[in-house]
Amino acid sequence: MLKKLMFLMKVGYKILKKDVINNEDYRKEYNNVAKTYNLWLKEMGRFTDEIINVDYINENKKLKILDFACGTGYITKELLQKNIDCEITSVDFSEKMLDELKRKVGNKANIIHSDGLEFLKNTKEKYDVIYFGWALSYFNYREIFKLFKEVLKENGIVCIITNTKGTLNKIEDIFLSVMSENQSEVNKPMDIKFNLPKGKNGLIKWINEFGFEEMEVKEGEVVFYFETPDEVLKWINKTGAAAGTVQIFKDYNKIKYKLIDKIKKEKYNNGKYEINHRFAYGIFKVK
Ligand SMILES: C[S@@+](CC[C@H](N)C(=O)[O-])C[C@H]1O[C@@H](n2cnc3c(N)ncnc32)[C@H](O)[C@@H]1O
Repeated sequence: MLKKLMFLMKVGYKILKKDVINNEDYRKEYNNVAKTYNLWLKEMGRFTDEIINVDYINENKKLKILDFACGTGYITKELLQKNIDCEITSVDFSEKMLDELKRKVGNKANIIHSDGLEFLKNTKEKYDVIYFGWALSYFNYREIFKLFKEVLKENGIVCIITNTKGTLNKIEDIFLSVMSENQSEVNKPMDIKFNLPKGKNGLIKWINEFGFEEMEVKEGEVVFYFETPDEVLKWINKTGAAAGTVQIFKDYNKIKYKLIDKIKKEKYNNGKYEINHRFAYGIFKVK
């Protein structure tokens, strides 16, 4: 008990000192999952489709669209297929995720390899629409929504889909418990949970603060079932669903069996092992 308390204090101190999983760790992990990220898209892309809609813009001119943290470009590719008169700029800091996009669309989009915040701070462009798929958790929402407002035109819109609190139920506790029991194997902790909104109302609250109003917002949850606990961990690792977690440990391969052991105990339900994804999505307009 005392050991666990000491450990939690140590983790808390590291979080305060910002000695946590950082942008470079996320970039590395997305480079690692670039080839398998399509597993995520195959299951979750249908929810992203809900926000790929430009009917909200009533202008008869070429639209400037930003696919922010575009990854392998699911949104960019869908937009290109829609026959809209538009110019798409797709930005991401993982060069390997961008390679996948380049292979598919060539020069049909302006593909930019950059840290997202740096891009927003330096661009001279103004956009009609920003798409922001599954990446809010990697940013400070205050910083990002303020910058979105600055780079959007009057009446611009932002379309978001994001994980919300309660996603990957118990996975964080599993990681914390393995960290606590294997302290000498811990590299640094992760503080991503602070960046997840509380459902659709949490998302609305966050974005309203920065001068956007909601046009349409929904939330959802899906649960996937696996035959074995190691399939659960494989899903997490191959899709980037908990990107950053591999970097928590000095030698992930050494620790992964301990994670599987905990998943076996904590995620068993009716003969299967389950994992949930909770999310919110919506379209917001500059007020
Ligand atoms: C879950 S993927 C989402 C990709 C894509 N938007 C989609 O809907 O499939 C998250 C993406 O955010 C990118 N990302 C995270 N932090 C970033 C940052 N600071 N700057 C640029 N890209 C970032 C990652 O490289 C990754 O490609």
